[in-house]
Amino acid sequence: MEFLESAIILGGTSGLGREIAKRLLSMKIRPIIMGRSVLRCQNDSELDGCAFVHVDLTKVNQWAPNVLHGIMRHGPPVTQVYWVAGVVQHKPFHQLLPDEMNELLTTHVSGPMVVLNHIYNELVEAGRPIKLITIASTSTFRFRSAEELYCPAKAFKANWAVQMMGRLQEDLPGSTSTLIMPGGMKTPFWLGEEVDISAFMDPGIIAGIVLSHALVDPEEDQHRVHGFLPIVINRSWLGDPIITYELPALEWPRPL
Ligand SMILES: NC(=O)c1ccc[n+]([C@@H]2O[C@H](COP(=O)([O-])OP(=O)(O)OC[C@H]3O[C@@H](n4cnc5c(N)ncnc54)[C@H](OP(=O)(O)O)[C@@H]3O)[C@@H](O)[C@H]2O)c1
Repeated sequence: MEFLESAIILGGTSGLGREIAKRLLSMKIRPIIMGRSVLRCQNDSELDGCAFVHVDLTKVNQWAPNVLHGIMRHGPPVTQVYWVAGVVQHKPFHQLLPDEMNELLTTHVSGPMVVLNHIYNELVEAGRPIKLITIASTSTFRFRSAEELYCPAKAFKANWAVQMMGRLQEDLPGSTSTLIMPGGMKTPFWLGEEVDISAFMDPGIIAGIVLSHALVDPEEDQHRVHGFLPIVINRSWLGDPIITYELPALEWPRPL
C-alpha cells in the first residue's frame, strides 16, 4: 500500500486504538502501532500495512527508542500522534497494593511522558506541524465510585492536551491538539471486570468521530480555539454517542 503520511498510535493494539488504526489505513495513512502485544497484531489481517513498535509503559526505563526512530526517519512523515493507552482501576483505592497503583500510574502518566517526550523531540527536529490527539475520558471530570486513581490519571491527560497546545504553538506553528473525552465503550478494557457493557458505545463509531474532528483543517473548524479542540462523547441510554464541544469543570462530590 502506498502511504503519504504516518500516524503514531500509543496503545493501538486493541479497542479504540485498533479501530483508529483500521480507519487510518483506509485513508492511506500508515499507523505506527505501539504497545505490548504488537507480536499478536502482526498476524491481524485487518492491520496489514501498519508498522509496529513494542513498548511496555510500565517499563520505559528498559525501552530503546531506536526502532521507533528508524521507522520515523525512513517512512512517510509522521503528521499525527494518538495517545490512547490506558488500563482500568481494578479495585477501590484502599484495597490497591503498591505494585497495582504503580502499574496504573506508570501506564497512564509517567510511562507515556517518557515515550511522548522522545516522539515530540523527533517531530520538532523534523519541523512539520502535527495533529496531537489525546484520549482521556468522561472520568476526567466526573465524580465516580472506586476510580480514585483512574479519574485523576485521566485529568492529567486532559491537562497535558491543553498545555501542549502552548508548546506546539511555539515549536510547530499550525499544529493542533484535540482532547477526546469518551464515555463507556465496548472494548477489551473491561475484560474480567464485573461491569455491564451492553449499552456502552461501539469503539469503531468513536474512532470515526475522533478522526472526523481531529483531521479537519483548523482554519475551517468553527469549534477549535487557538488550535485546541475538546470533545466530550457521552452515551445515550441506547449506547449512541452524544457529542459536545466543551472543557467541563470537575464535578462536585455528591451521595453515590
Ligand atoms: N473502554 C472504555 O469504556 C473507555 C471509556 C473512556 C476512556 N477510555 C480510555 O480509552 C483508552 C483506550 O482504551 P480501550 O477501551 O480501547 O481499552 P483496551 O482495548 O484495553 O486498549 C488499551 C490499549 O492500551 C495499551 N496498553 C495498556 N497497558 C499498556 C502498557 N503497559 N504498555 C503499553 N501499552 C499499554 C494496550 O496495549 P497492549 O495491551 O498491547 O500493551 C491497548 O492497546 C484508554 O486510555 C482508556 O482509559 C476507555
